Amino acid sequence: MELVDYLKRGPKNRLEDFYDYRDLVDKLRISFNLSTVSVVLGVRRIGKTSLVLSTVYDFMKNRKDVLFFHIDLRGVTSRDQMNSIILRSHIIGAKSLEYKSPLLKEFDKRLKDKLTEIISSTTREASLKIIKFSKTLSRRLREAGYTGLRDYLELYDDLCSELNARCIMFFDEIHEPALYIKNGFKREIAGSLAYACDYLRNLKIVVSGSLVRLTEEIINQDPLVGRLTYIELKELDMIQVRDFLEKALKPYIKQDLVRVIPTLSSVVVYPITNGIIGWITLFGQYLVENIGSMELSKALTVSIRSLITDMYKTGLEQVNVLRRYLREPDKAIKTLYLICKGVNSWSELKNVTSYSDGVLSSIIEKLERYGLVKKVADKYYPCDPSISVTLGAIDIGEITNRLEQFIQAINLIESSRSG
Ligand SMILES: Nc1ncnc2c1ncn2[C@@H]1O[C@H](COP(=O)(O)OP(=O)(O)OP(=O)(O)O)[C@@H](O)[C@H]1O
Ligand SMILES: [Mg+2]
Repeated sequence: MELVDYLKRGPKNRLEDFYDYRDLVDKLRISFNLSTVSVVLGVRRIGKTSLVLSTVYDFMKNRKDVLFFHIDLRGVTSRDQMNSIILRSHIIGAKSLEYKSPLLKEFDKRLKDKLTEIISSTTREASLKIIKFSKTLSRRLREAGYTGLRDYLELYDDLCSELNARCIMFFDEIHEPALYIKNGFKREIAGSLAYACDYLRNLKIVVSGSLVRLTEEIINQDPLVGRLTYIELKELDMIQVRDFLEKALKPYIKQDLVRVIPTLSSVVVYPITNGIIGWITLFGQYLVENIGSMELSKALTVSIRSLITDMYKTGLEQVNVLRRYLREPDKAIKTLYLICKGVNSWSELKNVTSYSDGVLSSIIEKLERYGLVKKVADKYYPCDPSISVTLGAIDIGEITNRLEQFIQAINLIESSRSG
């Protein structure tokens, strides 16, 4: 039996290391046999990539005829860049899942042959070697008529047909290029994915997005109506956080730490991370690193401090998005701060800010659009607790005090035991 490692770095790619969310794993697995686009939604670091990789790996275990293409769209700002990533996606997929197969090798060979054939038709170079799946290559393909997503999907479906293979194509963070590429890009994506659903029988499409509003702008378009399977990852609750930490830390720690986990979870980890598994995992990784070289109480303090520093940096990047894209970011930042402080309803926000309906609704629309705020049952919440850390809306002093009191209590117990 493989060792469970909930604290393994990077996105998980084995179900053994992927904590809980089994209803979503099942839903995704079932969707592989449906002709719909599966949409995995959830805020940053909640486990979207891990859910897809682990489920696909498990699905492929007993299926020698399946290929996996991972199209990681983070930081993609142009069509050529996106196309070159699609061209490399079988290689990236193999790396993400850490798998090799004769089918993958054969696919790679046929793809290169096919691309050489396509490009040779528009160039005088007689024997063109495809050395790199680069932006230059996608530019050349554009000259040969391969301009949009649909052309690539058709090409891949044909190759899979020749090989009698099926392929799962995962467009990870699909909203990212839509932030930069204009001119009907969102509509083109929706149309291409709907076409794949209806006619490209060898392809199964999965998309993910952290900016939920923007992702919905892409997928909730007419061509995709009725062709979507939604899978939404939610934060862990306090009991799950405790259970996760107990299981995750167990392989690394002595009995004394197991005893402190319930209090540690409810007093410190849950209030800071709000149940987002990526932050909890990071804390666990710091703690495991530190308990090797320092005593428990020091290791706890240092690990929390490292977590908060990382959250601060991430939150700052997110708040800076407002500074970059809005002409008057101050009002939006003030509104965001109030939401982080617990001023959650429209009427409360109106009262405290005195902004007009028009101004407030435009601010909230932007906050939702850039993935900073989400609406749940008519109330607004920050998507990521790191924003609250950065804006000073979480009382870190209060949490640190509670941690210190907690540590003193542990020390008292330790000294009474040894005394
Ligand atoms: N269910 C889980 N069990 C154990 N670890 C998890 C789980 N889900 C996510 N993680 C860990 O949390 C971190 C973030 O996960 P992942 O990258 O999959 O999230 P994401 O939603 O894709 O994030 P992003 O929005 O940054 O792309 C990773 O370190 C991953 O190993
Ligand atoms: Mg991800």
